[in-house]
Parts: sequence; structure tokens; C-alpha cells
Amino acid sequence: MRASGHPLYDLTVSNPTICGFNYNESTWLAPLCDSKALVYDPDPCGMRSVREAVAAYYSDHGAAVDPDALVLTTSTSEGYSYLFRLLCDAGDEVLAAQPSYPLFDFLADLDDVKLRSYPLFYDYGWWIDFAELERRINPRTRAIVIVHPNNPTGHGTKVLERNRLQEICQRHGLALIVDEVFLDYSLQRSDTEELVSFAVGPHPVPTFALSGMSKIAGLPQMKAAWIAGFGPEAVLREAMARLEMIADTFLSMNAPVQLALPTWLQLRKGIQEQIRERVRVNLACAEASGVEVLRVEAGWCAILRLPQGRSDLAEALLRECCVVVHPGAFYGIAEEGRIVVSLIGPADDFAEGMRRIAGFAKESTK
Ligand SMILES: Cc1ncc(COP(=O)(O)O)c(C=O)c1O
Repeated sequence: MRASGHPLYDLTVSNPTICGFNYNESTWLAPLCDSKALVYDPDPCGMRSVREAVAAYYSDHGAAVDPDALVLTTSTSEGYSYLFRLLCDAGDEVLAAQPSYPLFDFLADLDDVKLRSYPLFYDYGWWIDFAELERRINPRTRAIVIVHPNNPTGHGTKVLERNRLQEICQRHGLALIVDEVFLDYSLQRSDTEELVSFAVGPHPVPTFALSGMSKIAGLPQMKAAWIAGFGPEAVLREAMARLEMIADTFLSMNAPVQLALPTWLQLRKGIQEQIRERVRVNLACAEASGVEVLRVEAGWCAILRLPQGRSDLAEALLRECCVVVHPGAFYGIAEEGRIVVSLIGPADDFAEGMRRIAGFAKESTK
């Protein structure tokens, strides 16, 4: 469609660096020029001063994080890979929600780990099907992955759900891997439980929280993230020593980005406020469009339910309306008629895209 010159309304844009947000160039780039970066003195877990800045981020979330239980990585994806290596032998299994972030299949495959899904179900909000989750645990299961809040469902893990997950992990000897990249993007609905970081205790089971600059500061191109470890002391000590070994094998963090990371963390609130405002505007537009929007509590996207129960919805929207959306199946949504839209794209494009989607939905009910 693009090659044939059609103007497209792209509602999949989720790269914040091309959405028109204001990053003050000199303020954001200046910290990359620290002359300390000319000295190579690698710490496998990342510079201690930088880990202290990450610990301060968590203290803003009410959590006490030990800088010695942090490992810096170039991305959350790299963090997943380190954790799969830490927790699994080839052929071991991890459980991850469905629907969720589609990269898990590839990450697990590359690390020779088998990914098994556990279902979420929608009932004016998303819920974990715990009976099914527990049924899918077997002797080779090593960990449960939680995305909190989840992408693309935009729901957070409730306190009661967290307690239940911890109890299941304890009973089966599993670790928890918690991806909190969207933690700072709550819609703060009055009818929703506040998002609480898994970094806040207690931690009865080994727990690894993942996050990073790509969402916290809207800087996916800077390649800076981390793993924060929690849990019973002896287990955690051994896990961190092993993670240090894995990180030491690659030493993948570069010096300029590490030195800049504390400044970016300080600047994060300015960019987060712009992103949150864009999400609010686009979500309000989607909700006013007449198309059904599944309930969102947090994050950067929304799931729309269209009356057409066909599996080629995304293709039809592209061909007939010049609107680009993700098919629900891309995120493992089993039901037909679901599409996923990003809420951080430019508001004018989003509004025109939604107008076209609403027109398309109406056609089917005629
Ligand atoms: C749930 C989730 N985790 C991680 C990431 C990627 O993070 P990173 O760029 O740090 O690998 C994404 C990107 O969209 C995501 O949706």
C-alpha cells in the first residue's frame, strides 16, 4: 500500500522517538559527553553509581532495592535472555500470559527454553485463569513471567493475584520474572487498584523485575535496562553471583550510556507526562468513536472489539480504509474481531484512523 502511494494512517506507531514528543536536545544529549567515558573500567553488573540511581527510581515507587542486587543490561530483551540462562537448562519451560508481548516466543526459542502460555480472560477487565495456569506447570517449569501492567491488555496484577502467584511459585519451586516497563503509565482510574511495583516486598520467592529506559524515559534507542533481584537471602545471593557471571561474559553496557542514565532518570517525568497526556487524548478519542474499546488501566495501547468476526480484519482495514493496526492474533488474542492500536501516535492521525475504523465497523451492521 505504501509503495503504491496510498496515504496511510498508522495506528501501530509505538516508537516514542517519532511521535512528536519534546525531548530537549541539549539537556538529553549532554550527559553522553561525560569525559569519564574515556576510561574503560567495566563492572559486569554496571557502574555502581548508576545502579544507585536505579535504586533511587525504585525508592520513588516505595521499594528498597539493593544496588548489589541490580544488573544493568542493554535492553529488557537482554534481561530476559540472562534470566532464561540463569533459571533454565535447555528444554526447561517458562509460563507467560496469553495475550501478551509477542517477543517471548523468539526470546525463549533463542535460549532453548520452551514457552508455555497461561490464559487471561476478559470480563470487564483482564484476569488470570489460575486453575489453567497451575494445570500447565510441570516438572520442567522454572518460572512464571508476568508483564505488569501487561501489553497489550493494559491491566495490572492485583495484590490478591500477586499473593496467589507467589503462593503457586512457592509450592512448585518457581521464580517470578516481572516485566514492569509500563509501570509508570497508569491511567489512574478511580475504579482501579493502584499499580504497585513487585520491587515492593515481601518476596517469598525469587523475583526478578525488569525495566529500562525504552519506556521509562521514552528512549528505546539508547539501549539501557536492568534486572532487579529479590527473594530469600541465600537464593538471591547465589542468583546474583550467577547473573554477574553471565553479564561478565558479555560486558555489553557501554560507558557513555551508563554515565547518562542517572540524568535521564531525573528527566523522565517530563517525557512521561507528555506520553500520558497523548494516551489520555487518544484513548478518549477511541472511546468516543462508537467502537468498543476493552477496558484499559495502563500502558500505551488499546484493544478494540469490532463487530466483524473475521480473522483478516487488519488486512481489510489496510486495504479498504488505509489504516494500519495490529491483528489481535499478533499478541495471541484467540477471539476474532479484535485489533490492537497504539495510543501514543500523533493525535490527528489517530483521530482520522479511528474515524475510518468506526465507519468500517458501522458498515458491517448495515
Ligand atoms: C512488555 C514489554 N517489555 C519489554 C519491551 C522492550 O523493552 P526493551 O526495549 O528494553 O527491550 C517492550 C516493548 O514494547 C514491551 O512491550
